[in-house]
Amino acid sequence: MDATPPPKPAAHADALREAAERFGTPTYVYAEATVHERCRALRDALDGLPTRLLYALKANPTPALLRVIADEGFGFDAVSLGEVALLRALGVDASRILFTTTSTTDAELDAAAEAGVLPNLDDAERVAAFGDRHPGAEVCVRFNPGVGAGHHRHVVTGGAASKFGVALGQAEAVAEAAARRGLRVVGVHQHVGSGVRSAAELWPAVDALLGVVGHFPDLRFVDGGGGMGVAYRPGEAGFEPAALRDHVARPALDRLARAGRGDVDVWFEPGRYLVAEAGVLLTRVHTLKDTGERVFAGTDSGFNHLLRPALYDAYHALVNLSNPGGPPRPYDVAGNVCESGDLFARGREVPEIRRGDLLAVLDAGAYGASMGSTYNLRPPPATVVLRPDGTLDLVRPRRTPEDVARDVLGGAG
Ligand code: LLP
Repeated sequence: MDATPPPKPAAHADALREAAERFGTPTYVYAEATVHERCRALRDALDGLPTRLLYALKANPTPALLRVIADEGFGFDAVSLGEVALLRALGVDASRILFTTTSTTDAELDAAAEAGVLPNLDDAERVAAFGDRHPGAEVCVRFNPGVGAGHHRHVVTGGAASKFGVALGQAEAVAEAAARRGLRVVGVHQHVGSGVRSAAELWPAVDALLGVVGHFPDLRFVDGGGGMGVAYRPGEAGFEPAALRDHVARPALDRLARAGRGDVDVWFEPGRYLVAEAGVLLTRVHTLKDTGERVFAGTDSGFNHLLRPALYDAYHALVNLSNPGGPPRPYDVAGNVCESGDLFARGREVPEIRRGDLLAVLDAGAYGASMGSTYNLRPPPATVVLRPDGTLDLVRPRRTPEDVARDVLGGAG
């Protein structure tokens, strides 16, 4: 398997500078070619195996990227009716959508099922209740694999401390409750956590999930979840598609075959892996403040646009596109939100920053815009897509402060 990382948008420095000139800042730029490549890397690695890939669109629901991913043959893992509605509006067939929700209302589950989307139920009692309302329906059941992993405790979704899924020990009871109502459990699912850096961390959870397969005669797939991480720090290793094949997909399929369940496929649902490296947040420095102890570079963006550093202490590489060859100096790169935690980086060596310089915050394509807010009533960034032929398209124009104020007024005058 070719492990060469795909080109990151920072490789397109000229296009990024042009995007900032034409569309202003703050702006998210997504390189379509990177998404294509990441889709293909996973797909090619699993080629020939009875597997299926779904994209967890919570990572980034930008329609231009969803189209790329749909064209690459992926299905989708949706967590809300909003995500389902977006996919349907883009023409994605309901049969390609898994509805992986938590703490869901009956009304939401019913709406998904009626739209033909496969519900992924994550609560034993709710399986029975769903069966009462939809006898004979097909469902997937999410289990808590009993082990977790992830880049930060907030994103570990397996193990005793996690709210997600049905305990493995309840599998038999769930199977009986489903069978009594003619409910057909066609899939079992787990998601260990997010930002998992190696297949070795994913396998124990998939292995644990495989233990419940015997209870479910109607099974068509085992969904090993997402979580495949990317390399955010220089020199870090990202998740290897070949390792997913060799250390998770193949062992899982072998185990299924040995259990006489060779007709059961293995699914995965990556989010971050497909889009993180495709995205850059462009922001301009407007304030330089040397306190004698630290130098703060204040930008026109903030944690309202990219929450990951503030929420998880996440590392995002920073590039000074206006002075790439400048002498490196340590900066606290801050945002314009009125909170002290609004920093993209603390004490980070960046080529000398001057007022007006254009910074690129790298690897911001996953859980950047999608977790954004209008906190402080600042509008979200504009969204630009860098097409494979080098064209820059403004796919979501910049909104104005007046737009945001109007949203808050909500017609209430
Ligand atoms: N499947 C399920 C059921 C999930 O809950 C998630 C992510 C995924 C798939 C996709 O996970 P991925 O491949 O992207 O790791 N905001 C955090 C990440 C939260 C992930 C939530 N669930 C961050 O910025 O790191």
